[in-house]
Amino acid sequence: MPFLPGDSVTLSTGIQMPVIANGSWAPPTGNARAEVKNWTLTAFKAGYRHIDTAQVYGTEKSVGLALKESGLKREDVFITTKLPCNLSDESLSNLGFDYVDLYLIHCPQCVDKDVSGKIKAVTSPTFVEVWAEIENIFEQKKAKAIGVSNFSIKNLEILLKTAKVVPAVNQVELHPYLAQNDLREYCKGKGIVIEAYTPSGYSKVRNDPVIVEIAQKRKATPNQVILSWHLARETVIVPKSENEGRQKENLDLPVLTEDEVKQIDALDHGERICNKPDEHGMLWGWTMEQLGW
Ligand SMILES: NC(=O)c1ccc[n+]([C@@H]2O[C@H](COP(=O)([O-])OP(=O)(O)OC[C@H]3O[C@@H](n4cnc5c(N)ncnc54)[C@H](OP(=O)(O)O)[C@@H]3O)[C@@H](O)[C@H]2O)c1
Repeated sequence: MPFLPGDSVTLSTGIQMPVIANGSWAPPTGNARAEVKNWTLTAFKAGYRHIDTAQVYGTEKSVGLALKESGLKREDVFITTKLPCNLSDESLSNLGFDYVDLYLIHCPQCVDKDVSGKIKAVTSPTFVEVWAEIENIFEQKKAKAIGVSNFSIKNLEILLKTAKVVPAVNQVELHPYLAQNDLREYCKGKGIVIEAYTPSGYSKVRNDPVIVEIAQKRKATPNQVILSWHLARETVIVPKSENEGRQKENLDLPVLTEDEVKQIDALDHGERICNKPDEHGMLWGWTMEQLGW
């Protein structure tokens, strides 16, 4: 059954996760990260009940403040945040909460900066060790569910060898140019919910002639068509908009026909648009082989 915008999915721990979150990444420039409070407030007003943040975004505080100002109760809203692979478990104090709904390991590689400020991978801790820590956080009830982000089948296989708790969610880049069909199938088989970041594929995918044509036919915008494709495939999505009108638009999605879904399926060619390797074939200190991408 395709998801509808107001739906929630039940995670393996039994909690309900709304299928559309508004993202909260903002650049570390000017007042951008503080402004996340204002656009998280408009997202709550538009009807979002799921917000995605991360310690490295520096926006957890703004999300926590927005919830306080919104007048909503803590239990009315689902908050996902992410632990960087260096075990600095500061999210709850940043957010000002007693618990998070979903706590993810942000990425499998643990990295540090060298003297020149360049990112380098470190061998300790490993994501297996970080997972054991995040399992402790779950046992202490500081997170209602725990999961991973940017994990491939290869790295999930390593994790699952020693994990006491199977990740409830794997948040990955996923859009019509990167449909991640093998990973989706694998995660489904393990009871891991797949969540799409960069769900639009930005203007590159929004301007694809197939998307534009369906949008014109549907009297919808390209972004709406792309997000509808995800819901048709039962994928949880994290679009991000700081604009109230576009936030509303991203919750008001047409139901696509099977034929429209197939036309969009055919656009997949494994292209990463958000997080992709640099000129040395590396991403955050790891090769594509280490990432299993
Ligand atoms: N786990 C990870 O490693 C990871 C990595 C990347 C992202 N994320 C999470 O996923 C969230 C979303 O990622 P993303 O920003 O790459 O996703 P996205 O929603 O695919 O792209 C956001 C861009 O699309 C624009 N946009 C949004 N709605 C639109 C609409 N209806 N029409 C036209 N343009 C629209 C936004 O501009 P406006 O804001 O001006 O509307 C923004 O420029 C992030 O904020 C973060 O929470 C996680």
